[in-house]
Amino acid sequence: MKDFHNSHETPTLAQCLAQAHALGMARLDAQMLLLHSLERPLHERAWLLANDTNLLSPAQLAAWNVALQRRLASEPVAYITGRKEFFGLTLAVDARVLDPRPDTETLVDWGLAVLPVSTSSATDSMPENSEPLRLLDLGTGSGAIALALQFARPDAHVWAVDVSESALVVARANAAQLKLPVKFIASDWFDRVSGVFDLIVSNPPYIADADPHLTALRHEPLQALTSGPDGLADLRRIVTGSLAHLASSGWLLLEHGFDQADTVRALLTQAGYTHVQSHNDLAGLARCSGGQKPPK
Ligand SMILES: C[S@@+](CC[C@H](N)C(=O)[O-])C[C@H]1O[C@@H](n2cnc3c(N)ncnc32)[C@H](O)[C@@H]1O
Repeated sequence: MKDFHNSHETPTLAQCLAQAHALGMARLDAQMLLLHSLERPLHERAWLLANDTNLLSPAQLAAWNVALQRRLASEPVAYITGRKEFFGLTLAVDARVLDPRPDTETLVDWGLAVLPVSTSSATDSMPENSEPLRLLDLGTGSGAIALALQFARPDAHVWAVDVSESALVVARANAAQLKLPVKFIASDWFDRVSGVFDLIVSNPPYIADADPHLTALRHEPLQALTSGPDGLADLRRIVTGSLAHLASSGWLLLEHGFDQADTVRALLTQAGYTHVQSHNDLAGLARCSGGQKPPK
């Protein structure tokens, strides 16, 4: 494979993709990074194919080489491009926040499914309520879950909590960019949260402090990932703390690790939730569990 790094020639788009392939990079990642280097929208993969004999300019080649090196050092594509698609929304993302994963859309889908269709029509899963729905996202990071819920349910009032002030800067900027009226709270879980909610969702840190997989996630904030010796410290706090902040028949829905579903369901049951169940992620793994606060 020709190295264009120190060459005066510039490669074609096809040669860039072949270079990335030879270095073991996934095709989709390489296409996104190439579009980013060309300063084109990241969804224009068809354009790349149709124009694959185009030559890069020297500036584009410099950007491509930087992107390639960063990705080869295992940095998430989203941090390199500065953008991530989540639930049809384009979010600004950087190393201050977790790179939102497509699997987390499962949690959003479930959250939307337990809500009444509108505030004036009741469903079996939740009683009729003439007040606006109140939704809470705990550990919002980039704002992904809260913004997706607010986008899908403009009639709801959505709050989002994070303990990280720098994550909240990213989340607030995303809300402003998307013109979504989510309200953000800097808080250690419920410490500064008041009131009750019809739905609480959370994708909290759930990796054990000494988990060997953490080395592969070294670019993401540790505070977003780890949760005590067994990875369950934050899930425990959220399961117990949510009871005081859920309306009667309100739902708590949690994302967790692929091997934590049984334990999280047990935590929910022991705490007194009903209809405790798990949902599968896109890979068919039980990665979300939740339950309903019993009606009074
Ligand atoms: C796994 S990330 C999830 C981010 C985002 N919700 C998503 O799905 O992409 C967990 C988030 O919880 C936040 N967090 C960790 N400990 C917290 C605490 N004690 N109180 C509030 N937020 C916390 C982290 O800062 C991080 O943003």
